[in-house]
Amino acid sequence: MFFGCCILKSGKEREEVEEKLKRITGKLIREHSLEEEEYRYLIDHREEVRDRLAREARRVTEQIYGDEIFVRGLIEFTNICRNDCLYCGIRNSNENVERYRLTEKQILDCCAEGYELGYRTFVLQGGEDGYFSDEVLVPLIRKIRREYPECAITLSIGERERASYQALFDAGADRYLLRHETADEGHYRKLHPERMSFRHRMNCLRELREIGYAVGAGFMVGSPFQTSRELAEDLKFIETFRPEMCGIGPFIPHRDTPFRDEPAGTLELTCFLLSVIRLAWPSVLLPATTALGTIDPRGREKGVLSGANVVMPNLSPTEVRRNYELYNDKICMGDESAQCRSCLDMRMRTVGRRVVTDRGDLRRTPREEVNEEESRKKNGTE
Ligand code: 5AD
Ligand code: FES
Repeated sequence: MFFGCCILKSGKEREEVEEKLKRITGKLIREHSLEEEEYRYLIDHREEVRDRLAREARRVTEQIYGDEIFVRGLIEFTNICRNDCLYCGIRNSNENVERYRLTEKQILDCCAEGYELGYRTFVLQGGEDGYFSDEVLVPLIRKIRREYPECAITLSIGERERASYQALFDAGADRYLLRHETADEGHYRKLHPERMSFRHRMNCLRELREIGYAVGAGFMVGSPFQTSRELAEDLKFIETFRPEMCGIGPFIPHRDTPFRDEPAGTLELTCFLLSVIRLAWPSVLLPATTALGTIDPRGREKGVLSGANVVMPNLSPTEVRRNYELYNDKICMGDESAQCRSCLDMRMRTVGRRVVTDRGDLRRTPREEVNEEESRKKNGTE
């Protein structure tokens, strides 16, 4: 009798959970918006909805982008950084890193090689290196802009003054990647030294958008102290801020950081979140990141099968690659740029996709166009 009762009760509870999950997934698929609590519920019960959401995410991706995968050529041009983020392998206080800066010529050579390989987006990524002032960067960006008028120039060089963002934009940069890292202020404080500010970082994202950049935000999955509550906040932030791009990858510990003994984020949770992000903001440019390819040999392919549509192969000179180690065992350390390009071509083909030679701009759905228009009017920006 006692056992029968329990089974009955748990059976009823199960039904309630199933009902609730059905309602929430239906709402996400139809309305592309959930309450933070609902995101959290999905994350906590993801085993039961993962496959369905991945299927839906693939369907939505194919509707908007077909079988096209966009590539960005990543040029890691300096590993010198004034910051000391607790998770990052090139943090300022890591004395085991051999520091480097590429010269202007080296950077331009990377672009030339990338162009030959079919890249139409160059991502200049680096630490927050004081050497790269506007005086140094503006002429460089102008040269790239003049040489490759049909290419996108993406910057990923951290927090700067608004006037600097403006100067780099005026020189010809058109996109900017600045992961917010976590949308929860308390969590942000646990991942960064005291002198870094959550508000400042979020403000940078807003300024970049106001200036006219296409912006990329993003966060690490499974970073220390992260719970489903923080992840739900990240999802709500992505849904409402609608960055043109959202970079997410698993946290992976680096041996020379305070988080060396922390567990890495998982492939499973990262892929699940890729699907949810695709459904919450259908047109978003969503990379299957190198970190995902690092924790699983087919991580990037699995990312694409969960809704990703961008890959960012390395274009940095091979001599410096091993020095841009944000986390342990990063892939592609010894590979030539051409190898990465053909490797990804091949990998994407195995999941029914095709790497295209294209700037790879965001494509809004007609419904999103209407929503954008309405929110612009509401905010009085027109
Ligand atoms: N594991 C995974 N991702 C990391 N990043 C930095 N350190 C790590 C790490 N240990 C990510 C951050 C940063 C981006 C360039 O790389 O999110 O914004
Ligand atoms: Fe660099 Fe596969 S992407 S070798």
